[in-house]
Amino acid sequence: MLAGRSFAAPARQCLRTSVRSQQIYRPAFVSQSRYNSQVAKFKGQKGSDGKYTVTLIEGDGIGPEIAQSVKDIYSAANVPIKWESVDVTPTLKDGKTVIPDEAIDSVRRNYVALKGPLATPVGKGHVSLNLTLRRTFNLFANVRPCKSIQGYKTPYDNVDTVLIRENTEGEYSGIEHVVVDGVVQSIKLITREASERVLRFAFQYAQSVGKPKVRVVHKATIMKMSDGLFLNLGREIAKDYPDVEFDAELLDNACLKVVTDPTPYNDKVLVMPNLYGDILSDMCAGLIGGLGLTPSGNIGDECSIFEAVHGSAPDIAGKGLANPTALLLSSIMMLQHMGLHEHANKIQAAIFKTLAEGKTITGDLGGKSKTHEYAGAVIKNL
Ligand SMILES: NC(=O)c1ccc[n+]([C@@H]2O[C@H](COP(=O)([O-])OP(=O)(O)OC[C@H]3O[C@@H](n4cnc5c(N)ncnc54)[C@H](O)[C@@H]3O)[C@@H](O)[C@H]2O)c1
Repeated sequence: MLAGRSFAAPARQCLRTSVRSQQIYRPAFVSQSRYNSQVAKFKGQKGSDGKYTVTLIEGDGIGPEIAQSVKDIYSAANVPIKWESVDVTPTLKDGKTVIPDEAIDSVRRNYVALKGPLATPVGKGHVSLNLTLRRTFNLFANVRPCKSIQGYKTPYDNVDTVLIRENTEGEYSGIEHVVVDGVVQSIKLITREASERVLRFAFQYAQSVGKPKVRVVHKATIMKMSDGLFLNLGREIAKDYPDVEFDAELLDNACLKVVTDPTPYNDKVLVMPNLYGDILSDMCAGLIGGLGLTPSGNIGDECSIFEAVHGSAPDIAGKGLANPTALLLSSIMMLQHMGLHEHANKIQAAIFKTLAEGKTITGDLGGKSKTHEYAGAVIKNL
């Protein structure tokens, strides 16, 4: 009862403030100068052998099999990369899930990692390892491009969306409490700093991939203060990027429009708070055939981790049936982040050609080939 009382007062104060605010919140705009320059620029350097070292987290289940395909294809394509494999099996330290120091040091040293799927241990008191990685390296933006793949028929042929999700706060801040018995409160935390960082990154990403427009997806009509802050920062930051067109769209409208016809979104980078991005990015993945074909990048100030968004697929692990396309396409995003565009284009073209031919594809795409046979076909198409 006492605990309930101590929370009740601030809860009512919050309520009073939000009821009073009839206007969408406009923050006093003070640019965070540290984000004025290029956000999350890759800082790695080539070694004396002319190669970059990249941390490889092979992951669980099908992880090692699909990672092997990436290694084989990269070696055949002479990509100037040396892999540094690390184990991220979690341990509990003072009741918290932690990643081994060697793995953390490796990612910090190399500034970049490619990650296979990680199974979340059930019932051992661990939080999700993916969440732990995101927090450990402050990976503030999740980038999800979804592009139709020729040879894999879905209701739409021309999908080419890019969605950037704020990855560190919003509804996923984990601030929840019981106000009184039967009443719980969950706080959606939106800060100027995290919002500005992800918004600037969205503009810079749009410039780097040649998309002419950035659109904030929001619900500032209802969440006038939190989404209002995000939206109005977007408007202010847009002034620093006059070559990129800026607009905004309500989340519900965006969902309706994307599934009705995704093509008007092909020239835009969509940027949004955490929960909206989580849901909308899976919806866009569904438009191109699901999570098995969708790459992603988790971008941080110092380090970035690129990963397939599917899980460890324990049902097919060790059988040579896994499709490595999502991890491969995530590695292509990684090469682009590292400025290795020529190698990225060459491998990407070989992947798309192999899928379009449809002769050597894995079971999930309706084929009969094993993981290594598909990788072999990509190598032939290089
Ligand atoms: N990013 C990540 O590391 C991540 C994401 C999701 C789930 N997980 C973890 O993975 C484990 C299994 O999760 P799940 O079963 O819910 O989801 P899942 O994505 O592993 O599997 C769902 C279905 O898709 C198939 N599938 C997934 N990837 C495939 C691929 N590359 N090729 C062919 N088929 C593929 C699987 O065989 C399965 O039938 C859980 O421990 C979960 O916590 C990790």
